[in-house]
Amino acid sequence: MIDLDDEVAVRAADPAGMLDVVAALPTHCREGYELGRNASPMPSNEGIGAIAFCGMGGSAVAGDMIAALGADRLALPVVVVRGGRLPAHCGASTLVVVSSYSGNTSETLACLEDATRRGCRVAAVTSGGRLLERAPVEGSPVVRVPAGFMPRAALGYLTMGPLGLLEAMGFEIGAGSDLAAAAEQLETLAATLVPSVPSSVNPAKRLARAVGNRVPVIWGAAGIGAVAAARWRTQMNENAKAPAWSAELPELDHNEVVGWSEGQGSRFFLIALRHEAEPRDVAVRFPVSMQIARDAGAQAEEVWAADGTPLDRLLSLVMIGDFASVYLGIARGFDPTPIDAIARLKQALAEA
Ligand code: PA5
Repeated sequence: MIDLDDEVAVRAADPAGMLDVVAALPTHCREGYELGRNASPMPSNEGIGAIAFCGMGGSAVAGDMIAALGADRLALPVVVVRGGRLPAHCGASTLVVVSSYSGNTSETLACLEDATRRGCRVAAVTSGGRLLERAPVEGSPVVRVPAGFMPRAALGYLTMGPLGLLEAMGFEIGAGSDLAAAAEQLETLAATLVPSVPSSVNPAKRLARAVGNRVPVIWGAAGIGAVAAARWRTQMNENAKAPAWSAELPELDHNEVVGWSEGQGSRFFLIALRHEAEPRDVAVRFPVSMQIARDAGAQAEEVWAADGTPLDRLLSLVMIGDFASVYLGIARGFDPTPIDAIARLKQALAEA
């Protein structure tokens, strides 16, 4: 087991520098937003009645974030498509954002084809690959993000890029106006989470230590909290190589909570992601639901978002989870960066 307070050992256990990439989230967000705002040709927003965001895995999380941030501000629906076919309602009045960091994900490329066939307006987000080759041929703008990251580590670019594009098109979500303060706040937060800060005052290291060998279960309130919880889950999977689950309140109070029956909780560590803007009727559910999990034997802790705008809350939760998942991977003896199982699957499917 690596001691998270031994900075030299932590750095050695992270040879590809995932911790530094995670700390760079504020820079990625700022740069991504500008790339999106300056994409060309800028599609018209005239007559658009829905946005479909297509992507898989690390590239799809951006769609969840945009849908959650836009829920209170956009007058049109945002659907996130994780698969190779668009829903039947997509047509000429749909803006389809096709996002693949590598540009080579088969499901996402199939969505590009489907969108083109149906006459949708299309925008692409990618660092290269076949998506970069094909999208301009279809006359679509491409938000070209920098190459060289793991897809999940490019979240700042993948989220803020399309947000910049959408806002330049006239879909006001508040990302541009809230970004400067959010990025500054993230920088301050990152300074408390980096490897040089000891566990006693580093919430991400402390949490990774507390989780230990237990299975992380992450809860969040529907909307921003739930999107952050899903991101924590996938980061626990990929950075910590750990099975993990996430769920949202109030829904989990109508099913999952029954599973927390006597003796069932001892292998789990429950992390409740909280923020100040949770609806009151959801906020009151957290302590009661967590107590049920504790009574089942689980350990449970709350992690609170930074206060401020929706962007502040979402990005701060994402950053704490990103750091915690990397520290958990390191503590468990894994190099956080490689994702052998995904590479193996992609290879096998390409050959099939
Ligand atoms: O985290 C990952 O690497 C994966 O979830 C990928 O994001 C996913 O396989 C899709 O690849 P891409 O983001 O390149 O489209």
